[in-house]
Amino acid sequence: MEVIILPTSDAVATLAADLVEAQVHAKPHAVLGVATGSSPVAVYDQLGRRLDTGLSFARTQIFTLDEYVGLNPEHPERYLNVIQRDLVAKIDVDPDAVHGPDGLAVDLRQACADYEGRITGAGGIDLQILGIGTDGHVAFNEPGSSLGSRTRVKTLTQQTRHDNARYFGGDVGAVPLHCLTQGMATIMDARSIVLIGSGATKATAVEQLVEGPISARWPATLLQLHPAVTVVIDAPAASRLQLTSYYQHTYDNKPNWQQPLARVDS
Ligand code: GLP
Repeated sequence: MEVIILPTSDAVATLAADLVEAQVHAKPHAVLGVATGSSPVAVYDQLGRRLDTGLSFARTQIFTLDEYVGLNPEHPERYLNVIQRDLVAKIDVDPDAVHGPDGLAVDLRQACADYEGRITGAGGIDLQILGIGTDGHVAFNEPGSSLGSRTRVKTLTQQTRHDNARYFGGDVGAVPLHCLTQGMATIMDARSIVLIGSGATKATAVEQLVEGPISARWPATLLQLHPAVTVVIDAPAASRLQLTSYYQHTYDNKPNWQQPLARVDS
């Protein structure tokens, strides 16, 4: 796990966008996993601006992490609509290449299995962008999630519903109780992962993610077992870490050859 601590959330967004851009340059037909939530919005803004400098997503495929159950197709907080607004509208990806689990399916279990099949059928995710919830969830894998889970239905914690109520006019009751989410094992299948986090509200979750024991209590801790995770955080989000000077020293002395992404000929 590489831990990169930067002074501001803007710097976090720039570096995360650099990593996505490197992935797409290395493999123009990359399969990208994308998170919703506030953390990646600045990353997506930057990626959109980079189309002017030759970056293209025309051959990429995009998979979202999760979806609320039961929000109607026009609901602005349906995650497929969120990712359309926050990312797809800003880049040149083919709209038919944007996928999410179907939170309106009559058979939700089947929808979860279908989503796993769509990811596998696309060749698996090359780079997964993740945020982190204040309770240590990634995607919607809440505390107690099986660390071997695949895409499935989950019940949101009250903490997550409170955190996300800001998107529903402050009304916790309007935040759905249930969601479909890629499982921890699904996320671990991604070839590389970039997790971003900003602000002091994430400090405890980041502390657990990076330095805590691996436990379903803090599902993000499973990422410690992934061979290619880059955690990009700002100083407030890093404020509870113990080994910050070592992470900084490592980043400052990163050898040129240690690039995370090898070029893949298209
Ligand atoms: C949401 C999403 C996650 C996201 C997390 C943090 O509920 N399901 O994918 O990473 O919570 O969101 P934010 O970036 O807004 O803090």
